[in-house]
Formats: sequence, C-alpha cells, structure tokens
Amino acid sequence: MRLSIAAVAQVALTGGLVHAASTFSPARPPAIPLAVRSPYINTWLPVGKDGGNGGYLAGEWPQFWSQHTNGWVGMVRVDGTAYTWMGAAANGPAAVDQTEFSYTSTRSTFIMDVGGKVGMNITFMSPVTPNDLKRQSLTFSYLDVAVHSLDGSTHDVEIYTDISGEWASGDDSAVLEWDYDTASGVAYHTITRQQQNEMAEDREQAAWGTWYWATADGDGLTYQSGPDVDVRASFAKDGALANSKDTNFRAVSNQWPVFGFTKGLGAVGSESVSTLFAIGLTQDNAISFLGEGDGLTKVPALWKSYFSSSLDAMTFFYNDYSTASGLSTDLDNRVASDSLAAAGQDYLTITSLSVRQTFGALQFCGTDSAPLVFLKEISSNSDIQTVDVIFPSMPLILYTNPKLLAYMMDPLFINQENGHYPNTNAIHDLGTFPNAKGYPAGNDELMPLEECGNMVIMALAYAQRTSDTNYLNTHYKLLKQWAGYLVDDSLVPANQISTDDFAGSLANQTNLAIKGIIGLRAMSEIAKMTGNSDDEKSFGDTATSYLPQWQNLAINQAADPPHTTLSYGDGDSHGLLYNLYANSLLGFGTAFVPQSVYDMQSAFYPTVALEYGVPLDTRHTWVKSDWMLFAAAIASSDTRDMFIKKLANWISATPTNRPMSDLFDGNTGDFPGITFNARPVVGGHFALLALPN
Ligand SMILES: *[C@@H]1O[C@H](CO)[C@@H](O)[C@H](O)[C@H]1NC(C)=O
Ligand SMILES: *[C@@H]1O[C@H](CO)[C@@H](O)[C@H](O)[C@H]1NC(C)=O
Repeated sequence: MRLSIAAVAQVALTGGLVHAASTFSPARPPAIPLAVRSPYINTWLPVGKDGGNGGYLAGEWPQFWSQHTNGWVGMVRVDGTAYTWMGAAANGPAAVDQTEFSYTSTRSTFIMDVGGKVGMNITFMSPVTPNDLKRQSLTFSYLDVAVHSLDGSTHDVEIYTDISGEWASGDDSAVLEWDYDTASGVAYHTITRQQQNEMAEDREQAAWGTWYWATADGDGLTYQSGPDVDVRASFAKDGALANSKDTNFRAVSNQWPVFGFTKGLGAVGSESVSTLFAIGLTQDNAISFLGEGDGLTKVPALWKSYFSSSLDAMTFFYNDYSTASGLSTDLDNRVASDSLAAAGQDYLTITSLSVRQTFGALQFCGTDSAPLVFLKEISSNSDIQTVDVIFPSMPLILYTNPKLLAYMMDPLFINQENGHYPNTNAIHDLGTFPNAKGYPAGNDELMPLEECGNMVIMALAYAQRTSDTNYLNTHYKLLKQWAGYLVDDSLVPANQISTDDFAGSLANQTNLAIKGIIGLRAMSEIAKMTGNSDDEKSFGDTATSYLPQWQNLAINQAADPPHTTLSYGDGDSHGLLYNLYANSLLGFGTAFVPQSVYDMQSAFYPTVALEYGVPLDTRHTWVKSDWMLFAAAIASSDTRDMFIKKLANWISATPTNRPMSDLFDGNTGDFPGITFNARPVVGGHFALLALPN
C-alpha cells in the first residue's frame, strides 16, 4: 500500500478546500528538518516545488536525505472523528488544518487546527549540545505533541503515531525483526534488520544497529505492530490499538509492518496536554578506522562511554526532555541574538536552518577522555573526514565549541602520523563513511594545496581559541611538512582541482594561491606559539614576500571595477575570493593583506551578482552558499547584506525539495545538475559569527 494523498495536499498550494493556508516563519525552507541528529537519523519533510507539497506535515511522506521514504504517520481523534496530522497514508482520514510553521536552530514546530475544536502544537526537536558531550552522544530525536481545546469546550482526544520499517533499512526487501517492552517508565518498540551488516549501508541508511521508537508508559497508552493498513485502521475506528505484537518477521515492504502508539488523553480542555515521543538508532561500533596499529579498528559510538546499554541510553534520553529542551533553547537564543546583531533577520533565517544540518552529519565516537568526531560528506559521494568539507563547516564548530574541531582533525592526524599515507601533502579524506580505511597507497582525490592550507589554518584557528599550544607541538612535524608544500606551490599553483572540484581543474588559481599564502603566515604563527623561532622567521618571510607578488599576478587593475581574476592573467575571469576569510579568521587582518584588497572585492561583487547570489566563478552561473558567506563575513556592510539577502531569498524561492543545497544555479535557484543536499558545509553560514572580536 503506497498510495499517497499528495493530490489532497496539492489543494493546499492553491488555498483550496482541505487546508487553510499556513504561515511559514522565518521562511519556507526547501525541506523541513524533522529528526536530524546524525548521519543515520536524518529525516526531513520535502517542501519545494520539485516534489514537496509546500510544507504541510499532513499529505507528504517524510524522507531520509537520500529520498527514501521514512514512513511516519500521525493521526488524532477528536470526539470520535479521526484526522491525519502527519504522513500520506493511503485512505487515511482527512488532514488537519495547518496554520503555522516555524523553525529555530533546534526545533521545527507545526500549529494545527483540528476542526475548530482542538489545537495541536507539534514540535520536532533535535538537540544540539556541543558543550555537553554526554548529551550530544545520544543519537535520538524528540517529537512532542501538545493538544488543547480551541473552542472553550472539552473534547475527547486520542493521538496516534507510528513509524514504518523504512527507518531501519534503506533496502525495502531486507527482513526486519522487532519487539516491544517497557523500562524506566518508557514504552518502546525496537526494530532491527535481521541480518546485521556492520559498517554497511543501503541507500545511505545504516544496515546495522537497533532503532528505538518510544513514549511514556502509563494510563491511556496502547501499542501494536502489524501491517500498516490494519494498525492505522484500528486507530481510526476505535481510538486504541490491540496491545499486540505481529510475530511474522518480514521484509520492510511485505505488508509494510508499522509500529504504532496511541495515547487516550480523555477530556481535554484549554490547558495543553503533551505527549512526548523519541526516535533513534543505537550502534555499539559506529566507525571502522585505520588509526594506530596496522589494521582497521572498530571505534565505539560515544554514548557507550556514558551508558552501560543502549536501553539505558534511550531511557535517559527520553526522561531528559526538560534539560535537553532547556539546553536547546539556550542555543536557539544565542544563535538568534548573535545573528540579529551581526546582520539582521535574513541572517538568522539562514543560520538557524544550518545548525541541525551541520551537526546531523557528525558521528560522535571514541571515549569521554578521547572523543573522535567523524563527518560524513553527505550527498557528494559520502566520503568520511573530507578536509575541505570540515574546513567550510568550521565556523559553526568554532562558534559552538572549538574543541570539536580538534576531535574532527584527530582522525586525520592519527591516520597520517601512524604512517598510513605515503604522500607529503595533506590527505583529502579517509575513505567512504563509515569506513575510514585511509589511503595507504596514496590514491585519494588529490587536492594538495587546498588540504595543506586547510589543515594548517584549522590547527591554528583551534589553538588560538583554546590556547592549546600542546596540540600544535604534538602535530608540529606534519604541519611543517604541509607548510613546506605551501612554500613550493602556493605562489604559482600547479594545475590542480580545488574543493570546488565540480568546476574542473585549473592552473594558477588565485583563490587557492591566497589560501596557501595565508597558510604560510599561519605556519609562522604556529612556529611562534611553539617556540620554533627559525621557522617563525622563515615561513613569515616567505609569506610576506609572496603576498605582493600574488597581488601583482592576481588582480586585474585595468578592469572597471578592478577585481581578482579566477586564474592569473585571465583578465575577464573572476571568482569569489573566499579564502581571504582565513586572514580575518586568524586575526592577521590588514597588517598582512591590505585593506585595499578587501575594499576592491566588496566594490566588485555587486557588479556580477545574479538573482540568488554571486557566482562562484566565471565558469558557471553556480552559486556556493558557504563560500558566499565566507566572502560576506569580510565584505563592506552593504555588500555583506546583499549576499545575505540573496541567500535568504533563495531559501524560500528555490524549487529544490531536498535538505538545503549549498550549490545552486544563481538565476533559477534550482540544482545545477548536481544534487548536493544536507551537507555539513552549511556550518560555513556562521562565518560572520566565528570571526575574532
Ligand atoms: C501553541 O502554539 C500557539 C500558537 O503559536 C501558542 O500561542 C501557544 O502558546 C502554544 N502552546 C504551547 C503549549 O506551546
Ligand atoms: C602560471 O603563472 C605563472 C606566473 O604568471 C606563469 O609563469 C605560468 O606560465 C602560468 N602557468 C600556466 C599553466 O598558465
């Protein structure tokens, strides 16, 4: 049964019979984050015209970021009449009226009107607690459903939710097993793949681990597992389930087993009554890693450091809602006040949509005393620990907890310091998530100048914010080796790709060159902080001598207005000089790169702007949102505001319907034939907030 009531939802778009129109605040994003907490808990509501229903929770299936449906249904009965508030179940009851949608950094909230009788406040909260690793380690997300009377009378209310087996396997033909139990006041379904394939994926979803779907045990609760049509019809008819387990373990799509709860709330008056649900996945081992020693080791998920069992972790998470909610509100408020102060509401519209997406690509591993944070390069081939994806994500990491940046660089240092990479340049990535098996043959995607510059710049950015000079001492040998590469290649860069590999390879890239030169200046600072005065002088002198030569080669002074070119000598070309951001991030400022370079670029960018942004470079009309905000952070206030306004407009206007893409066509706002989505690089949208004061 996979009919959809999308047709019903379409009516909503034209303001028709079924839905009243909803407001969307601060914007209607291309996809709405529902449960977005880790690379495998990454479920969204498609919104944009390319397949979404316009942002209504009822009438559209939630999807994993890879577009595999993650069946999630919500219904409510009011005085015996059933309505749908989430999902697109076949032959489901009529949809409630959605009147408001809003989002913050950690929450997506829908306000529903059920027949003018009952109001529902439905909140999806995926906590982000970067300074509380115990809580951040918990790979779960909350759904809170609050109901109250709207018309002054009391109403009999029952609520219903279920999830399908699609959460537990990206392969619908995989056989599942399931169970139901209670512990510590929590009632829960567990769902697992019968065949556990550790460290494997199907359509980007994990093929191992245990899914939990939980709510409070107690009066009025009923549960059932069984075929979707049976379980859902039983609620619509009776307002309760059979308290029974389906014993016929079978494939995801074989009579679609679903795992339901109902909660009878009795007579509901004007006082709001909440029911809390939690969903998540526990894995004992989360990553396979070529680190110390000769072979691959299995790295435990970080929650194992704090809890003796996955059940303890789940019940702790469920019973921790008020603390998790308070911490999430603290972060929401901090992002809001800082974003508004930095550049106003348009900026907050962007930053607050970027937080869950960035943290949702991170898998926290290791132990409390030695955490390792692994990053999945979601959607652009799923590499693990890609250096030039960590680099653009860095502003949000520095803004929330700079120590996390070290936990992200650590796997790269550990792998290379244990002799697993033969090349003298910095490695590009460690493999394909979740298998960080490195490149002992040195055959990674070669981006030597990009990654050497990135590693040196990130190491200093971390150490400046934490005063952890010991980190620089520990890794000095490699950092110096990579800086040596910058001495050789940064002023006249060989033909190579940059992080923007989709745009092709090129010699003498102006923007790559300035990254390398700032990297040399950074290495001089690293040498100073670690008492290596000869290196301090030598790298500093090289950086200082390269900079005016770079200005000579990189700037087309004859153009009107003047600007840096995409590559040396190609006068008509241009590109975003986003790597200049590092000069400001590291506090070198105009003592190193003259103010005139900043001013020149600020004056130039508006002259080449398209509808939704300034193109990355002259090879395409493509816009890259993370790099655009790197450029915005160091631009004049007018140019900064232009960048931000265009990106905020894009969020509401794009026809794309997948989690925020960082790459889109500057004229149409659509995918440029490449479907980047849900990538953590949107952490780069925090570029304004990561600069030193
Ligand atoms: C529910 O949402 C409405 C409308 O935004 C708001 O006024 C009310 O305070 C909310 N109630 C709860 C319990 O959150
Ligand atoms: C790169 O720039 C240098 C300096 O202008 C020049 O000598 C060299 O020929 C250029 N390389 C290529 C491949 O264009």
